[in-house]
Amino acid sequence: MPRILVVDDEQELREFVSMSLELNDFDTVEAENGRKALELIASEEFDCIISDVEMPEMTGPEFLKNFRELNKVIPVIMLTGVKALNTVVEVMKLGAQDYLVKPINVDELLISVRKSIEFKKLKEQNIKLLKENEKYQKHLEDMVEKRSVQLKDALFGSLIIIASAIEAKDEYTKGHSNRVRLISIDIGKLMGLNSRQLQILEYGAMMHDVGKIGVKDAILNKNKSLTEEEFDSIMSHPTVGAKIVQNISFFEPMTDCIKYHHESYGGDGYPEGLRGNNIPLLARIVAVADTYDAITTTRPYRKEKSNIEALEALIGGRGTQFDPDVVDVFVKNRLHEKDYKMIDKRESEKGNIKPSTVILDDETIMTNVGKPSNLKPYIYD
Ligand SMILES: [Fe+2]
Repeated sequence: MPRILVVDDEQELREFVSMSLELNDFDTVEAENGRKALELIASEEFDCIISDVEMPEMTGPEFLKNFRELNKVIPVIMLTGVKALNTVVEVMKLGAQDYLVKPINVDELLISVRKSIEFKKLKEQNIKLLKENEKYQKHLEDMVEKRSVQLKDALFGSLIIIASAIEAKDEYTKGHSNRVRLISIDIGKLMGLNSRQLQILEYGAMMHDVGKIGVKDAILNKNKSLTEEEFDSIMSHPTVGAKIVQNISFFEPMTDCIKYHHESYGGDGYPEGLRGNNIPLLARIVAVADTYDAITTTRPYRKEKSNIEALEALIGGRGTQFDPDVVDVFVKNRLHEKDYKMIDKRESEKGNIKPSTVILDDETIMTNVGKPSNLKPYIYD
């Protein structure tokens, strides 16, 4: 049975309203003023409140204002005398559901109470639906987050597999792709690249030699000088690599790193002989990282050289083979003192090669990577 709280200082009117409601299957509780009504509301449940406007101690509008701060759902019907009609707008603004003008007509009272209770039910249903919707939304977000982590792991895992497949063809290059990734990311961060550029750089560096899949193992492992044909085959790997990735939407942004990592700043590199800043910035970074790591590791045709010798080679090629800014960042931040071989070993032994940037999203493919405007300090571990 719906419970109605009747608030009025006039006992006669209060009892008349209560009795009319009780006769029509409502349960009622009476309060003689707003303060008492608030006390009752704090401890009991009601489906509707009927309150007089003019009352001593706390007026109807004051009571309504206080009550609405605590509860926005339970409907309040205000009773007003003809003289207090000007308060109608005020109480409606304060959140009254309806108003009745004295003397009270029982039929009007019943219609108003029933409508108000119906409205309360709809409001409660709405709140319930909103909560369920919020819960569902949260569940969806959690699912997307989970899937995105899985996708990220799977995609990066595929990069590791590709890099391992390239390195398996040439026993001397184990860990090379991962070290080029680590060095490139450090340079990129030091140059102040934005997060999207860093993502592309990281994945592109990891994949830079993917085209070597198309070069015969015998050529890659040959310790004597190469024939012209063999040399051409090796020189084709940036173009072959670019062709492999350029039609796969996820890998396409990395095409520049792969295609142009053997271009030379002075213009005598391959495959296109691009010069200076016409070579995409990310490829200029990978070129430095690639060369540094290649010099410090043993190759079929020569022994590994020291970090200092590799550093000297970078400085020697500053502005001719390499972008001078990239070399400066490498040299000034003493990246040659960082033990990339050790980091790679630690990561690969634990099977824990993880991307340091977040997954590439569906944003438009980045073109024209500009030169970073400000160099941000970056402390490596
Ligand atoms: Fe290469």
